[in-house]
Amino acid sequence: MEEVKKKVMVSGIQPSGDLHLGNYLGAIKNWGARAEEFDCYYFMADMHTITVRQTPADLRRRTLEQLAQYIACGLDPEKNTLFIQSHVPAHAELGWVLNCYTMFGELSRMTQFKDKSAKHADNINGGLFTYPSLMAADILLYQPDLVPVGNDQKQHVELTRNIAQRFNHFHGDVFKLPEPYIPATGARVMSLNAPESKMSKSMPDGCVFLLEKPEDIQRKFKRAITDSDTEHCVRYDVEQKPGVSNLMSIYSAVTGKSYAEIEAEFDGCGYGKFKPAVGEAVIETLRPIREEATRILNDKAYLEGVYKAGAEKAAYTANKTLRKVYKKVGFVAR
Ligand code: TRP
Repeated sequence: MEEVKKKVMVSGIQPSGDLHLGNYLGAIKNWGARAEEFDCYYFMADMHTITVRQTPADLRRRTLEQLAQYIACGLDPEKNTLFIQSHVPAHAELGWVLNCYTMFGELSRMTQFKDKSAKHADNINGGLFTYPSLMAADILLYQPDLVPVGNDQKQHVELTRNIAQRFNHFHGDVFKLPEPYIPATGARVMSLNAPESKMSKSMPDGCVFLLEKPEDIQRKFKRAITDSDTEHCVRYDVEQKPGVSNLMSIYSAVTGKSYAEIEAEFDGCGYGKFKPAVGEAVIETLRPIREEATRILNDKAYLEGVYKAGAEKAAYTANKTLRKVYKKVGFVAR
């Protein structure tokens, strides 16, 4: 039987912070299922992260913690290629070559560069500026069809296509032109104590982290802002009742219940019963994730096995592309 070749998908994840309920319900939850349809490569983009100063021990810890959390959220290392960017030298190698096919003007126009150099005015380093050519290398090495990214990264994927086109123009068809893929978002989770803003690690009181202890999670839900209207009933109305609606959408995402079912369930109960019920449902959803992530982090040999096998697999594909590129630009074969 002939095996149908799956489409390829590549995505990088910056190991820059702890994952939270918004990341999970809005995106990561759906990633496990992608492996049925696509051949997926995911890497911890540690090389990108050092464009901004990091504490070395924190970067190392977060890289592993984040990898463990993604696995715990359902990214099966048997079905996906999971690795650490700096473990596959082809990224740095192709990154250099592509730097020479990326124009100063193009890099100057990147919004993320402008934003980040305004934010880190004391450290506008060369890496921050040329980051998009490294990202182009990350992508093009795997000849992917699709690159799942948030809206903020679309510009980088478009630049990647331009770089690939420029390279192909000089050297023939080397790179496949990838498409950005903006995944349909899951629940849009808002801050528990400021429901007009998205849940974010920068507002930790309204944010539920995946590895947080159940009692801390429950405390945050009990303190969640409900609305100052007088009816005190559980009803979905984003305009009039943003706090309650946010809790309903979280409850719906973790239980699968519809808004009508939730309204019926808490009819006449007031918020005193509703808030801890949402907290409890979230705790039960996150429990297996936290347990699995902790188990993985404590099993150093397992985690090491995952990222070593991932890097080996990734390097196999990446080196094929790199060899082609080196030959095309005129480097003597190693
Ligand atoms: N730049 C991306 C971000 O900041 C991370 C990233 C690095 C990436 N390399 C990538 C995403 C390649 C997709 C493909 O979120």
